[in-house]
Amino acid sequence: MAPKLYFLFWVFFFSMVPFPSQSQELFFNGFQHSSNNISLNGAAEIESNGILRLTNDTSRLIGHAFHTFPIRLKNSSTGKALSFSTNFAFCIVPEFQKLGGHGFAFAMAPSKELPGALPSQYLGLLNSSDNGNLTNHVFAVEFDTVRDFEFGDINDNHVGVDLDSLVSNASVPVAYFIDGNSTAQNLTLQSGRTILAWIDYDSADNQLNVTLSLSSKKSNRSILSFGVDLSPYLNEFMYVGFSASTGLLASSHYLMGWSFKVGDGEVRSLDLSSLPALPVPKKTNKPLILGLSISAFFVSIFAVLTAAYVFWKWKNRDVIEPWEREIGPHRFPYEELKKATKGFSSKELLGFGGFGRVYKGILPKSNTQIAIKRISHESKQGLQEFLSEIATIGRVRHRNLVQLLGWCRRRGDLLLVYDLMPNGSLDKLLFDEPKIILSWDQRFKIIEGVSSGLLYLHEEWEKTVIHRDIKAGNVLLDADLNGRLGDFGLAKLYERGANPSTTRVMGTMGYLAPELTKTGKPTTCSDVYAFGALLLEVACGRRPIDPKAMPEELILVDFVWDRWREGAILEVMDPKLKGQYNEMEAMVVLKLGLMCSADAPLARPTMRQVDRYLQGEMSLPEVIPPPGGYAGKKGESGSGSGDGGGFEDYLHSYRSSYFEKTSTVSTAVDIEASSSLSLSLPTSVECR
Ligand SMILES: *[C@@H]1O[C@H](CO)[C@@H](O)[C@H](O)[C@H]1NC(C)=O
Ligand SMILES: *[C@@H]1O[C@H](CO)[C@@H](O)[C@H](O)[C@H]1NC(C)=O
Ligand SMILES: *[C@@H]1O[C@H](CO)[C@@H](O)[C@H](O)[C@H]1NC(C)=O
Ligand SMILES: *[C@@H]1O[C@H](CO)[C@@H](O)[C@H](O)[C@H]1NC(C)=O
Ligand SMILES: *[C@@H]1O[C@H](CO)[C@@H](O)[C@H](O)[C@H]1NC(C)=O
Ligand SMILES: *[C@@H]1O[C@H](CO)[C@@H](O)[C@H](O)[C@H]1NC(C)=O
Ligand SMILES: *[C@@H]1O[C@H](CO)[C@@H](O)[C@H](O)[C@H]1NC(C)=O
Ligand SMILES: *[C@@H]1O[C@H](CO)[C@@H](O)[C@H](O)[C@H]1NC(C)=O
Ligand SMILES: *[C@@H]1O[C@H](CO)[C@@H](O)[C@H](O)[C@H]1NC(C)=O
Ligand SMILES: *[C@@H]1O[C@H](CO)[C@@H](O)[C@H](O)[C@H]1NC(C)=O
Repeated sequence: MAPKLYFLFWVFFFSMVPFPSQSQELFFNGFQHSSNNISLNGAAEIESNGILRLTNDTSRLIGHAFHTFPIRLKNSSTGKALSFSTNFAFCIVPEFQKLGGHGFAFAMAPSKELPGALPSQYLGLLNSSDNGNLTNHVFAVEFDTVRDFEFGDINDNHVGVDLDSLVSNASVPVAYFIDGNSTAQNLTLQSGRTILAWIDYDSADNQLNVTLSLSSKKSNRSILSFGVDLSPYLNEFMYVGFSASTGLLASSHYLMGWSFKVGDGEVRSLDLSSLPALPVPKKTNKPLILGLSISAFFVSIFAVLTAAYVFWKWKNRDVIEPWEREIGPHRFPYEELKKATKGFSSKELLGFGGFGRVYKGILPKSNTQIAIKRISHESKQGLQEFLSEIATIGRVRHRNLVQLLGWCRRRGDLLLVYDLMPNGSLDKLLFDEPKIILSWDQRFKIIEGVSSGLLYLHEEWEKTVIHRDIKAGNVLLDADLNGRLGDFGLAKLYERGANPSTTRVMGTMGYLAPELTKTGKPTTCSDVYAFGALLLEVACGRRPIDPKAMPEELILVDFVWDRWREGAILEVMDPKLKGQYNEMEAMVVLKLGLMCSADAPLARPTMRQVDRYLQGEMSLPEVIPPPGGYAGKKGESGSGSGDGGGFEDYLHSYRSSYFEKTSTVSTAVDIEASSSLSLSLPTSVECR
């Protein structure tokens, strides 16, 4: 049994191995008896009279006919494509008189099945995702009978050279020359006539010519001559053959003969008179019925197109609901934003901000540079609530806040238009390998700016605005490297869960105040906690939780507190500063960072106090309370934290793994130290 299986395996194996063809010449005067040499795929069939039919006139078909074995098309030692020439006879018979589709192509491809290829405008060669990709290695000369605007086709009757893409690199209207007459003779591909085509590639001149004729005599003038070196587009071995497709409109695509040769010199030409007879054109005995059916066809196509257009218009209209009209800041028309971003082109994509994609653009009317944040949101109610919030925050103006210029709603998408901040976000200039290293003076100015912007939101504007998502990624830098807070209030949009009675905790790991996971209610104090994390980041040049750091340096606050206790606080400063910083200012920033990171909300300073400390109007206390986690609250963590407790568990699991790695003695010392130090807390601060 086993030897027999083995034998079968080898037979199978050898029959599957593509055999490089030794013969460099193919000649098919009709395709009778060629089933060993031609592989058919899809709708392609060889008819009994020897004509190869790539497709019949049914919609959306693909037909492939390739020489069974791959052919060497490159010199293996030089990697240069070899010269080749080919001659074939074809005939296209449309479904309706002069109305058919889609076309066919002479093709060289890495496979003879072209898996994944699409019919219609893709001609059975490529698909929408690989079209234009240089890894395709598909070379084709297309004979196209439909004008596809998507691919920039010149008309509905053209020959084109396609290199890995259906957007032709060169194309001309179909025509042929008669020797001695320099005027191109018009020719319609889908005329039902048999047309002879020659494609000649000269690898010394890097020239590709296409010549057509209605007789066996090749004209000495080509209709298309294109200078191209095919070497980068071809593999050493390629399958050579034909691919055809039909679309909504269909034609039968026939091949009567094919001759192909690799190397210099003329290919053996086909003789029209010895080729299989033309397919008999479909005769309709009642021209009236045909005429009627054609006009009915057009009428129905027109009706369908009109209906589709009307539907499209209706679907894409800017729906403005009554409540939207009452909203304060400027409501931009969608078309204007579309124009500003060149149709939300991926080239204009600045990045993926807090809640969605951010595009840059230029307002066509005023030439203002803007950034557009595009947010998707399923819940209409959430959007409505948020938009009423916009009415408020749209009026907030401060030099350290990113100005909201306006907004636009389009179905589930919300578009927020902001001033463009040319220097991007702060995190890009702090972590990993930043392009420029911010000096201490620049950093201190940014901190002062953010502090003043946040103070304005908390205390100086007509009502208290809680930011909810302060982090380095939300601090944007204007042309003069001033820090400006962006995205304020945006987190509110995402706070409500599916069930309105529950609240999700929004924010970013490492910036989340511990009480947030319990109460779920963001306050000015939780903003201060996040601001503390930001202070430490800017001074140390590290993220609040840095998984890449050593275990004992994992959590930035704990690491800074450790050095503080050891009296070596300045060791934590960002090494990228190379010691170039003002020690007084650095001490203030680090100490303040620790104070803001206190576990108890009321133990943190207010933004008013923070601002005064930073301005030097108030001096910091000598003793400061230890930040959270250290106070030995291990046992409590995660209990009763309700919805969103996952965040805290995560945070605390980092911390408890830290505890396991340090000696219990030092922990005990901490607890003692903390109880005595806690007495000097600044108190009587109310969180709003
Ligand atoms: C087809 O292949 C056979 C060998 O399998 C060869 O003898 C014959 O000449 C080939 N026919 C053509 C038309 O290339
Ligand atoms: C056209 O070809 C397709 C696929 O080979 C086949 O399913 C269909 O029946 C053919 N139609 C006609 C009218 O021959
Ligand atoms: C490949 O190129 C080398 C160097 O130009 C030449 O000697 C050789 O004959 C070429 N081989 C083929 C198959 O053309
Ligand atoms: C496009 O064709 C490639 C093969 O060339 C295939 O991997 C891919 O899945 C196809 N994509 C689609 C959308 O059919
Ligand atoms: C081109 O195709 C390769 C492999 O199929 C893929 O890795 C690459 O991302 C594609 N490039 C583009 C621009 O689509
Ligand atoms: C063909 O067109 C593509 C896209 O337009 C272009 O990138 C490529 O360089 C062109 N190739 C040649 C040989 O002209
Ligand atoms: C083509 O052939 C005709 C005569 O057969 C001749 O008059 C003409 O000069 C030739 N043109 C070219 C470009 O060789
Ligand atoms: C050349 O072809 C054009 C277009 O078919 C025709 O009008 C003209 O008479 C021809 N000239 C000669 C000299 O045959
Ligand atoms: C060829 O077609 C063009 C444009 O379709 C037309 O202007 C010209 O008259 C036609 N020439 C002949 C000889 O039919
Ligand atoms: C292509 O045509 C040009 C003239 O248009 C001619 O000089 C060249 O030799 C031709 N090349 C081939 C490979 O036929």
